[in-house]
This record gives sequence, structure tokens and C-alpha cells, in this order.
Amino acid sequence: MAHQATISAPVNIACIKYWGKRDTSLILPTNSSLSITLNQDDLRSTTTAQCDPIFSPGDKLWLNGKEEVVKFGGRTATCIEVLRGWRRDLEKDKGLEPLSTYPLRVASHNNFPTAAGLASSASGLAALVFSLATLYSLPQSLGQLSLVARQGSGSACRSLFGGYVAWREGTQPDGSDSIAEEIAPRDHWPEMCALICVVSDAKKGTSSTSGMQRTVETSTLLQHRLTIVPERMSSISHAIKERNFDSFAQITMTDSNSFHAVCLDTSPPIFYMNDVSRSIIAMVEELNRVSGELGYGRIAAYTFDAGPNAVIYALEKWMGLVEKSVRRWFPQEGIVEVELEQEGNKVLGKFDER
Ligand code: ADP
Ligand code: DP6
Ligand code: CO
Repeated sequence: MAHQATISAPVNIACIKYWGKRDTSLILPTNSSLSITLNQDDLRSTTTAQCDPIFSPGDKLWLNGKEEVVKFGGRTATCIEVLRGWRRDLEKDKGLEPLSTYPLRVASHNNFPTAAGLASSASGLAALVFSLATLYSLPQSLGQLSLVARQGSGSACRSLFGGYVAWREGTQPDGSDSIAEEIAPRDHWPEMCALICVVSDAKKGTSSTSGMQRTVETSTLLQHRLTIVPERMSSISHAIKERNFDSFAQITMTDSNSFHAVCLDTSPPIFYMNDVSRSIIAMVEELNRVSGELGYGRIAAYTFDAGPNAVIYALEKWMGLVEKSVRRWFPQEGIVEVELEQEGNKVLGKFDER
């Protein structure tokens, strides 16, 4: 019987966006970023890793039932190589069965659209790394595993943790301090909810990897953004610590807009948002204007990754109103109210049931 491990990893949606690499092979970012991890019952990647000496030589990977080539020297191969090396060390130390010499078979499924700007590479690569670490019984910490997941897809390093997670850009040329860490657990602010508005489940035209590379090469606005992000990182961490939703919302929305402005400043320009995305922005801004006038401060925060789909963060007491507004103005769009890494909230639907 083959040795086998199956695990799921959740998606994380950034409030301060990672967009740009200073080192493309180690995946070292041009700025630190911060995200919230969603509940893995909602948007998740589920990955099974197997190894067996009877498998034909070479590692294989299937994504959503379709074989993907594990390119020699590519990102997936790099993750496998590091984890296999750690297993080899363990075998030497403890005289364990030489799993590190067996070919691997990895199969992964996403229960939501892949490559549509809903962070499939984050949950996908986190699941890949964690399934192999489990298969190999590795003793490494989540922080150490985040260094490996980062080399698979930058945003994946944050999906190894629940709650509120920062990815520190680090200063070491070898990337040893470009690591993810939980800054607050989910239950620090349990009222925080997310609504995913599926504007389109189509695969994006420009992958995050190639899009951000083009931005680094051509955008002058990116240089300005990089001077601003450190201050935003500390203000949003503070807002989270203080559970100050008004400030959290202001920073989250501003950073999403700053990221999409930098995409527009790229040559040729990248358009991830569409007219529906922009109408969702207008709707949330209007909700916040009214709630502000009534003295409640901001009650909702939109953010868009590299795609047209909106994620709206709101506190539980306001989510009913936010959801009703979205349904009223966007009756044709798919909506999923998701939990944040904890039992308790109501789930209205799942992508795989749409
Ligand atoms: P997204 O916005 O969904 O993160 P990206 O362009 O960043 O889109 O990355 C999409 C790529 O991530 C896919 O083409 C695939 O190579 C990889 N990926 C997505 N899901 C998985 C998974 N479950 N396992 C392995 N790789 C995955
Ligand atoms: C807009 O992590 O998908 O979602 O490191 O090249 O795999 P690679 O890119 P990826 O980029 C994510 C970009 C983003 C913002 C974020 O998640 O911080
Ligand atoms: Co991605």
C-alpha cells in the first residue's frame, strides 16, 4: 500500500496586497502583506500526496483531475525538493523508511474557481506543502513550512496560518526571514465576516505571476506604493489589535485601490476589475457614506485580488444589510457568505453547488 496523506488548506484574502517580487526565483516580495484566512469548509484546496517504490520514476501532479507537468526547476519541483531533503535528513537521523527515494503522486482539487482571482494558488500551494510535510512526518514548524510554500506561490505562505496573518518581506538575500506569522488569532475578532461576490469564475487573462512581473518592470507608481505600504502594515495591524473596523475598512479599501491603480500603471495595462466590480465599490462606498453620517463609521470593506471578484469584509451585525444590498443591486451575481476559519456563521452557498 502506498504511503498517503490528505489535507485541506483554506484561501486567504489580502487586505494589504503582495504585488511585486524583488527576487523571482526565491519569491521574495517587494513589500510585506497582510491577510485574513477564510474557513476551510468554504474555499479550500484538498490535496492527497502518495509515495510508493512501485510507482514509475518521476513525480506527478493532477489539478482538478487534469495532469499538470511538474517542470524541473519549477516552483512545485522546488517545494518538493526542499521537503524531500528534510525527509532525507530525518531518515538519516532516525533510521526511517526511505520515503524520500520513492516517486510521488499528488492530486489536488479546488472547490472554487481556479486562477480566477480567488487565491487558488495560495490554498493550492499551502495544501501541497502541508500534505507532503504530513506524508513525510516532518517536524518543521509552520513558519519553516511557510518559507517553502512561499517558493511555490508567494501568497501561499499566509494560508498555513489561520486568523490574521502577516508575510514579512524580510531583508536576508536567502529569504530566510521572508516568513508568514499569525498576528492575531481568528477568535481575537470573531465578529469579522466575509462575503465573496463571484462576478466571474473565468480564468484570468494575466496570471498573478506574469502580471506582477510586468508591474515591477514598467510601473513607476509601484515605487510610490512601496514607500506607503510599511505605514499601512503598521496601521492595519493596530486597527486589528484594537478591533477598529472603521480604520481596518479604510486601509483595506485604499490598499485594494492602490494595487489596481498600479496594475493600470503597468505597460501594457492590466485590468483585473470590470464594470460590475466597480459598481460593487460604488455600492460599498455609498453604504459607508450613509453609515458614517449616521455615526456608525464604515461598516463594510471591499477588496479585489487579481480578478473581478469582490470580497467584502463586514462585522456580523452588519453583514445582513451588506448582503441584502448586494443581492438587491446585483441579483444576477453569485454570492457566498463564508466563515473565517471558525465554526458558527451561516453559509449561504458553495461554489460547487452553484
Ligand atoms: P489565483 O488568483 O487563483 O491565485 P494565480 O494566477 O495566482 O491565480 O495562480 C493560479 C495557478 O495556481 C494555477 O494555474 C495552478 O498552477 C496553481 N494552483 C491553483 N490551485 C492549485 C492546487 N490546488 N494545487 C496546485 N497548484 C494549484
Ligand atoms: C493580488 O501569490 O498568486 O492576490 O507568488 O507569483 O504565485 P505568485 O503570485 P500570487 O499573488 C497574489 C497577488 C494578490 C495579492 C495577495 O494575495 O497578497
Ligand atoms: Co494566486
